[in-house]
Amino acid sequence: MKKEKFEALLQEDRLFPPKEEFAVKANLNSEQVYSEAEDSMNFWEKQALNLDWFEPWQEVLKWNPPYAQWFLGGKINASYNCLDRHLSDWHRNKAALIFEGEQGDSKVLTYQDLHREVSKLANVLKSLGVKKGDRVTIYLPLIPEAVISMLACARIGAPHSVVFGGFSAEALRERIIDAQSKIVITADGGFRRGTAIPLKENTDQAVRGLEDVEHILVVRRTGKCIEMEEPRDIWYDEAMKEADLKCPAEPMDAEDLLFILYTSGTTGKPKGIVHTTGGYLVGVSTTHKWVFDLKEEDVYWCTADVGWITGHSYLVYGPLANGATVVIYEGTPDYPHKGRYWEIIEKYQVSILYTAPTAIRTFMKWGNEYPLAHNLSSLRLLGTVGEPINPEAWMWYYKYIGSESCPIVDTWWQTETGMIMMTPLPGITSLKPGSCTVPFPGIKVEIVDSSGNPLSKGMGGYLTIRQPWPAMLRTVYGDPKRYESTYFGNFPGVYFTGDGAKWDSDGYYWVLGRVDDVINVSGHRIGTMEVESALVDHPAVAEAACIGKNHDIKGQALVAFVTLKEGVELRDDLIEELKAHVVEKIGALARPEDIIFTAELPKTRSGKIIRRLLRDIAEGRALGDTTTLADAAVVSSLKELYED
Ligand code: WT7
Repeated sequence: MKKEKFEALLQEDRLFPPKEEFAVKANLNSEQVYSEAEDSMNFWEKQALNLDWFEPWQEVLKWNPPYAQWFLGGKINASYNCLDRHLSDWHRNKAALIFEGEQGDSKVLTYQDLHREVSKLANVLKSLGVKKGDRVTIYLPLIPEAVISMLACARIGAPHSVVFGGFSAEALRERIIDAQSKIVITADGGFRRGTAIPLKENTDQAVRGLEDVEHILVVRRTGKCIEMEEPRDIWYDEAMKEADLKCPAEPMDAEDLLFILYTSGTTGKPKGIVHTTGGYLVGVSTTHKWVFDLKEEDVYWCTADVGWITGHSYLVYGPLANGATVVIYEGTPDYPHKGRYWEIIEKYQVSILYTAPTAIRTFMKWGNEYPLAHNLSSLRLLGTVGEPINPEAWMWYYKYIGSESCPIVDTWWQTETGMIMMTPLPGITSLKPGSCTVPFPGIKVEIVDSSGNPLSKGMGGYLTIRQPWPAMLRTVYGDPKRYESTYFGNFPGVYFTGDGAKWDSDGYYWVLGRVDDVINVSGHRIGTMEVESALVDHPAVAEAACIGKNHDIKGQALVAFVTLKEGVELRDDLIEELKAHVVEKIGALARPEDIIFTAELPKTRSGKIIRRLLRDIAEGRALGDTTTLADAAVVSSLKELYED
């Protein structure tokens, strides 16, 4: 593991204790919950009783490091817990999903409506030959059908793999192959800033030559004319017309796969993060209820797409298991105008808003007039996730969105952790802008040095998690070795997050960012290796090295240093061509901000690229240690190039 210097953060002394009127009504308002959770097994077992189980578990946890199994022997179904159990009382008529389309169209589905649609789709999937254990890839815009598809898969025990609609055909193909999906659910398109994204065309390209893909189920969204290849391609609405309304939920083993979700790592190939059923549901429903202080009458809006873990845990499974009313919005915050989010909050009287620092920084840049033009007084709690939030953005969010009366929950977690791990509990924890505060009850984190020794308060080091937790990933799909080495290879028996963090004198945690070759662009993890692989795939490129540099809005931005193959002429349009190539290979979220051509890359004598130096160059910093350089001249010429 590389040693990194951890940036010293500015001292942040502001403290925001919970407001009396909030605390008295909060779901949790006594510190006691932390001491009760000291016995974490007992604590999680108690939380598990809030779900509906077909059969009880025999054992709470089997920990065979690094493999955990929770609620062994228990039988449960995620779709049943998100739907059926709400139908026996008035909740059946409660809004489950409030959908707002980019074009301003809207639709409300009650729990009963959602149950009906999910049951029908589950029957459609069965009729297409999907059996328990078969993987289904979902490549949809953020429309109700995305949620319906996930829950339909869960209902029949078919693990889903949701691929974000912004990923390219190639990225989709790679994920379909890795998961060996037989079925892909997609749409004729999805709206983004008024234009339709060609999801079906991408899917056609992605599955070309893949014999295992038997069917593509196509949701009609844009009405755009697309090619349908019979009998492989089937219209969703036509199949649904004939589907039976009844589909009992399949009793699943607590440890059966619920879903696979791909995330970037330090090597080129994305990792299929595996989440199972029982523990995951216990983790996400408990955290959702307590972190967001969920009340029956809340209107909860999580702005994440279902293509990310936030969408899985806090747009679908956590909130629906808790019987919440969830707003989903298909479009971007600036279409057709920059007040879109605030308009939606006012329209639906949203009371809880969960979004990302990159969005907050963008709103700040656009100016206060947009939120000020709307009545946001329905809001009572705000949340953030995805990357560290800078105190300035925190204060802006607090003041202009929350009118200085809403607590902000800064939630730290990962695709792998499945659930929120560090967060304030809004009725208990005093907030510090920029800190995700303290571990959730039952979670034990520790900051260690590179040899794994715990560090005392005030010091920065590697963020680790000491005990298994119910929603933790179980493995990397099809690659247990990668699971073992990535997460448990650095500190034996202990989960390594890949993040650096600091612990302050009050015991508050400050996450400083990744310490590996993964960068966080707008709250989304991108492996620098993945982008490098995409670049060297272009015929003109010999070598590429990508790094992240600080960026006002995105948190970090990708910068690529590229050497060209011998004989390749440097053309004006090559930069755009290479950027487009990365977009084609991975998707727009991986488009490099800058591409710098260089004759050579700085390397150690053994030939390893020294990214640290590239970062120094990109950030315009004084160069760090250059003694390990094979050729010192490379760096000075690069610096000149960059400054041009
Ligand atoms: C990485 C996980 C969890 C859903 C979104 C991202 C960074 C996430 C915070 C936060 C500081 C944060 C970490 C983490 N991160 N939330 N509140 N404060 N950093 O999921 O793609 O799995 O990325 O995002 O670096 O390791 P992900």
